[in-house]
Amino acid sequence: MPYSLDPELRRALVERVRYSHEMGIYDFYRREPRLGESTENASTGVAPFPFSTELREEMPARKSAVALAIAEDNILEIALSRPEDRVADPVEALKLIREDLGDCTRCKLHKQGRKQIVFGVGNPRAELMFVGEGPGADEDAQGEPFVGRAGQLLNNMIKAMGLRREDVYIANVVKCRPPGNRTPEPDECETCSPFLMRQIATIKPKVVVALGATAAKNLLAMNSSLGDLRGRWFDFKPSGAQSSDATWPGARLAVTYHPAYLLRDPRQKGETWKDLQMVMKYLGIEPPKKAAE
Ligand code: URA
Repeated sequence: MPYSLDPELRRALVERVRYSHEMGIYDFYRREPRLGESTENASTGVAPFPFSTELREEMPARKSAVALAIAEDNILEIALSRPEDRVADPVEALKLIREDLGDCTRCKLHKQGRKQIVFGVGNPRAELMFVGEGPGADEDAQGEPFVGRAGQLLNNMIKAMGLRREDVYIANVVKCRPPGNRTPEPDECETCSPFLMRQIATIKPKVVVALGATAAKNLLAMNSSLGDLRGRWFDFKPSGAQSSDATWPGARLAVTYHPAYLLRDPRQKGETWKDLQMVMKYLGIEPPKKAAE
């Protein structure tokens, strides 16, 4: 006999999903069927509920009946979809992610003096994406990433590659200015990065360049030194945010020095140029005859 979902349980589930969405989390674990286990219920022919945060243990009969009822009810399929899943156009998709971010108060940075949220800028179909740490004073004032002195240097780096700023997409790990330009704290990065992951999954770049240690460590979920991470490729798929395009294989990720660091230690510009040349080679970009300063 089909199990009908208790309205209270239904409400609690929808609430839980809504809460996850508020935090920018849209993807949940899907347990693969165990060896010899059918993906269909023998009596009803309905596939079991595929999403759960707690399906790693054996499912007692009542629980699986509940799961089945949820699958039939289709509520989570609807509730779990991200707003941007409904559109194919990345311009629209980015707008929906920005709307979802709203006037964000999810972490403490919202009450530590930020003027505005700095979402990201550039070509929504970019092959190349740069990810920095977080907005500074100029970015906070203008609402655009990398517009201060470090931004001028990033512009020069992009130009030296034979590209224009509007060809690439630029974003940060956190979207609000940390007070005094301090490094964003782990909880702030964790709260904000689902939105960055969704931006990357929408843009589907061929290459992501992590600018500095904060971006590298957060994107790669690794704690290695910048020296260990530079000069090589990583395969990258945005965690927790599947691209709506199943044909996108993910990006390659390279790590280089943050432009603000290069302003303090210009001797590392040569090493940075080597990293960018590695990116250009992969993207098939010829440098202009006379590289910009
Ligand atoms: N530094 C960053 O990491 N991001 C910016 O947007 C500006 C400076």
